Amino acid sequence: MSKLNGKVAVITGGNSGIGLETARNFINEGARVVIFGRNKESLDRAAEELGSNVFPIQGDVSNLNDLENLFKTVSETIGKVDVLFVNAGIAPVAPLEYATEEHFDKIFNVNVKGAYFTVQKAVPYLNEVASVILNTSVVNVKGMQNMTVYSASKAAVRSLARTLSSELIAKGIRVNAVSPGPIETPIFGKMGLSQEQQDQFGEAVSTMVPMKRFGKPKEVANTVTFLASEDASYIVGSEIAVDGGLSQL
Ligand SMILES: NC(=O)c1ccc[n+]([C@@H]2O[C@H](COP(=O)([O-])OP(=O)(O)OC[C@H]3O[C@@H](n4cnc5c(N)ncnc54)[C@H](OP(=O)(O)O)[C@@H]3O)[C@@H](O)[C@H]2O)c1
Repeated sequence: MSKLNGKVAVITGGNSGIGLETARNFINEGARVVIFGRNKESLDRAAEELGSNVFPIQGDVSNLNDLENLFKTVSETIGKVDVLFVNAGIAPVAPLEYATEEHFDKIFNVNVKGAYFTVQKAVPYLNEVASVILNTSVVNVKGMQNMTVYSASKAAVRSLARTLSSELIAKGIRVNAVSPGPIETPIFGKMGLSQEQQDQFGEAVSTMVPMKRFGKPKEVANTVTFLASEDASYIVGSEIAVDGGLSQL
């Protein structure tokens, strides 16, 4: 039987990379999926690609009005939410000496404030026995150069998986996190690096990973689908690493 039959899921950043692949997985498992992102073109493209059980909504996770509008629209048009994948994120890099206040605020606004208020605004619209999955990153336990702000933002999200779990457990809501290692997605083209720097970065990271390769979005999506489903019914406040061994070996 399908793992998410009849469920309603919301995925922030569902129009690209890991979020898009997770939307595909959820639909294949029987869910109706709302994808939320800023870029109308990629939202429309994703909706066309994924078919009739996907519902694109445009907005910015760092804008609280957009988040309120998202969950109100979903509850009015589709129903209460069973699964929330808090996935939207950005990863610009900067060495400490060049990092500006704007760089810091931009990352924390999307990755931390965005994640926090996504959950807060979703709670009134979550079904009983809902599952919330936060997307952290292997960098929350690694000391990688030039990624100070991004790494700190993801460590904050890891902390949220614990504290939000503890606040929401009495309502029957399970909060967990997935922690990807390097995954082949468009994010690397958005880090502010030249093509040459991206290639060098990719090579250096692949060498560090015990499995000696990047992961695929599908490999993360499979873990998110597990956490979203009843198969993970006794898992709360945890983080599952999908990182080719990078955080453990
Ligand atoms: N790829 C990796 O190696 C890796 C590793 C560890 C963790 N992660 C995490 O995985 C998540 C997804 O990343 P990805 O690799 O799939 O990258 P991606 O393909 O660039 O996807 C990022 C998604 O987030 C959305 N987004 C960004 N800012 C947003 C905002 N302010 N409001 C709403 N949506 C926003 C983007 O849509 P719009 O541009 O339309 O807004 C896009 O759909 C991120 O949280 C990232 O930190 C990725």
